[in-house]
Amino acid sequence: METIQGKTPIELNASELQMRLTGYNCIHLDLGTGDGRFIRCMAEQHPCSFFIGVDACRENLRANSHRKLPNALFVIASAQSLPMELNGSISHITINFPWGSLLESLLTGDARLMNSLEYISSSIAALDVHLNGGALAEAGMALEAGADQIYNNMLRSGWQINTPLLMNANTLRNFPSTWAKRLAFGRDPRAIAMNGYFK
Ligand SMILES: C[S@@+](CC[C@H](N)C(=O)[O-])C[C@H]1O[C@@H](n2cnc3c(N)ncnc32)[C@H](O)[C@@H]1O
Repeated sequence: METIQGKTPIELNASELQMRLTGYNCIHLDLGTGDGRFIRCMAEQHPCSFFIGVDACRENLRANSHRKLPNALFVIASAQSLPMELNGSISHITINFPWGSLLESLLTGDARLMNSLEYISSSIAALDVHLNGGALAEAGMALEAGADQIYNNMLRSGWQINTPLLMNANTLRNFPSTWAKRLAFGRDPRAIAMNGYFK
């Protein structure tokens, strides 16, 4: 699979990846990670866990991937066809403030995305999804209606999901991703969080 460090692309095969992951008690994957700030912060705060940031846009990943953290990796890939090297490895998936085709696939219950999430998950995997009102408005939906649709699609795909909850501006301000900060201080700070697991 194609990984990136700063501007340098680096190919990593399945056994090289497994060597990197050995000894970590939780393998966390952030889908649509953007500039990777979330991954960098989490990797710095939780040295016993390994963090993988995935984004389809390599330019986005440059900002934080140049730092050499032993427990972080950045992968260029589309959420709808994640590299098979990741299969069965991930114990925690986050999708923070998706837009574009990632949001569209959540809204339609796209089988390519749902299968990818299932393939990469280990025997039990946790899931956190954070959605924002502006992105859903661009997709033509109100925040609550979009969150409900995604909640139902995740249930249909075998995920056990708790009732979605509203996030307030304070929670957004303290959330360690670039997009959360933009939302917290922007015109439309409405967001919804949902979490659950796959078994
Ligand atoms: C609004 S940004 C959020 C970035 C980050 N999660 C944050 O909280 O700061 C959405 C990100 O999703 C990525 N994205 C959109 N569709 C994608 C797809 N199909 N596969 C992978 N990444 C995707 C975009 O490139 C963008 O970086």
